Parts: sequence; structure tokens; C-alpha cells
Amino acid sequence: MADFTPFSILVIGGTGTIGQFITSSILRAQPHFPSVTLFTSPTTARTKAAQLAKWQALGLKVKVGDISSERDVAAAFADADTVVSALGRGALQLQLDLLRLAEASGTVRWFFPSEYGTDIEHNDRSPDERPHQVKLAVRRYVREEVKRVRVTYVVTGPYFDMWVGALPGAELAGGFVTEKKEAYLIGGSEKVGFCTMWDVGKAVVAALRHPSASFNKALKVQSFVVAPAVVLAEYERQTGAKWSVTETPLETIRKLETEAWAEGSPVATGFTLRRIWAEGGTLYEENDNAVIGLGEGDMETLETGVRRALGGGWTEEEV
Ligand SMILES: NC(=O)c1ccc[n+]([C@@H]2O[C@H](COP(=O)([O-])OP(=O)(O)OC[C@H]3O[C@@H](n4cnc5c(N)ncnc54)[C@H](OP(=O)(O)O)[C@@H]3O)[C@@H](O)[C@H]2O)c1
Repeated sequence: MADFTPFSILVIGGTGTIGQFITSSILRAQPHFPSVTLFTSPTTARTKAAQLAKWQALGLKVKVGDISSERDVAAAFADADTVVSALGRGALQLQLDLLRLAEASGTVRWFFPSEYGTDIEHNDRSPDERPHQVKLAVRRYVREEVKRVRVTYVVTGPYFDMWVGALPGAELAGGFVTEKKEAYLIGGSEKVGFCTMWDVGKAVVAALRHPSASFNKALKVQSFVVAPAVVLAEYERQTGAKWSVTETPLETIRKLETEAWAEGSPVATGFTLRRIWAEGGTLYEENDNAVIGLGEGDMETLETGVRRALGGGWTEEEV
């Protein structure tokens, strides 16, 4: 396996929130990967036809099927040596079957389960964090059952592009409201290691270019590591104005988080993740950027991230 190079890449969930950046980055990588295929549902093939047509012009092949059908998945795996999953939270459990089918295929040799987020094995509290449970089950399955296929997890921390947006109904957990020049910060927050969404795609491509350095690793990649107060200072610098700041103590966030879970609120996961990030859950002695060849100047900066956010964020046409 030491000399393995991905030839035929199959992306699953590749039109989703982060999947679109991953698919787009893989397709635009230079030199090109020889074969890139998207496995997608009939609904997405219909509703995102324009996006798919744009990518097809860049060489993407599209296979339409049902992710929960063994026959459809096995047929897709028969033509793939590398599978990149970017399935959403609601579909993460399905990856146990996908990994079993990959292992049974004679073809798939490398699998990226859908992670692209918080380090789920960061400290002794990680095993109990509710949003981590399915991803932890996937890692357990890999340790216990996957012998032939190599696995890589790309751990990115929060997407800066999303972190700067306040969660409706959970504004106190953090975010920037540009129209009103209002910032919500968690008091006493540690620095946070961010990836921009484009850099998530870049990191997956970098991992694909460095197979032996990536095999059987959780790669921690980061665009920049800054305190939320420094993000605020950058917003103020770029807008030339003082922003009004609401700072909520970490203790209050923990209480709101507990209440949100008790009520079954859809913002509960958001509270937990933002609390973990404020507690230092994205800080490492060293990240793995260099392990996959990402050097100084390769990743986007805080300045770029804030400029994009102030400009209304990325547009679908760019992806
Ligand atoms: N770090 C962060 O800040 C952050 C933020 C958001 C997400 N994430 C992580 O990124 C990964 C991808 O999440 P996402 O939000 O990008 O995903 P998403 O947009 O919710 O879904 C991605 C794709 O998965 C498929 N899918 C979704 N739900 C499904 C279901 N119930 N059954 C079958 N297929 C389903 C669909 O693909 P098709 O229709 O093409 O089959 C969909 O386009 C997750 O691991 C998530 O935890 C991290």
C-alpha cells in the first residue's frame, strides 16, 4: 500500500453543506485526479441538477442510487479505490454498512468517513459528548472490524464561515450580526482552531495527495487559531466601527446547553459544540497541516474569512 495513489475517487454526500466544497476541490485539483464520481440520491440529482451539470463539465461522473441499498452501493464501490464520505449527521450511522461493504469489495482501498469537525477523541470528556456518539461508533467499528481498507478522518474544528453566524435561537452561544454590528461571544473562551469551508476541501485534497502519511490517522487541520476577541477586533478593523458586544459566561452556556438537550431543542448540538470549542477542544500541541504538505500561506487567513463573511459569505456559483 505504500505506493498507493488514488485513481478512482467516489464522493458520497458530495453536494451537502461541506461536501460541495470537498467535491469542488477534488474536481479542480491540479494535477487532476483521473476519475471522480459522485454517488447521490435521485432527489439530489433532480434538485441540484444545475450544480451537477457544472461539475460534469469539469469531468465529474454521477451515479444515482440509494445509499441504503447494498446493491447500489456495491455497484458504486466496484469502480472505486477511494471513497470520500461527506454524509450529513442524519446519515452517519449508515457508514457502518458502507465500511462493511468497502471491506468486502475487492476494489476500495481507502475510506474517509464523514467527520470534518470537532476532535471527537480530544480528552477524557469526549466519550460522553452527545454529538460525538455516532462518529465515535464509526471509529470503534473501524478499529474492530476494518482490516483491509485504510481509513482517514479529516478533523477540521468549526468552519469559520459558519461559526461567525449566530445560531437562530442560540445567539448567546456566539456569532456576529453584520447588519446590526452586534457580536455575541462566550466569556472566558479559549482560542479556537478554525477551518474555512474552502480549506476543508483543500485539506481533503492534500490528504488524498499524501496517502501513506494519512492512512489510519485522524488528521487535525486548521486555517488559523485565534481567540474570539481577536475575531471581533478584525470585524471592527474591517468595518471601521465599534461593535456592541454581548458576552455570556461559559457557565451560563453550559446551563443553556443542558436546558436545550432537556427540551429536545434543535440547537442543543450547536450549544454543545460551541461550548467544547470555547473550552479549548480545538487546541493541540501541533496540528497536522505539514504532515499532508500544507505549509505557511497555503491556508486562508482570519482577514480573508472576515472579509468573505462581511461580503455576505461564499456564493453557490463559486463552488
Ligand atoms: N465543523 C463544522 O463546523 C461542521 C458544520 C456542519 C457539518 N459538519 C460535519 O460535516 C459532515 C457533513 O455534514 P453536512 O452538514 O455537510 O451534511 P448535509 O449537508 O446535511 O448532508 C450531506 C449529504 O448527505 C446525504 N444525506 C443527508 N441526510 C441523509 C439521510 N438522512 N439519509 C441519507 N442521506 C443523507 C445527502 O446526500 P445525497 O442526497 O447526495 O445522497 C446530503 O446532501 C458531518 O460529519 C458533520 O458533522 C461540521
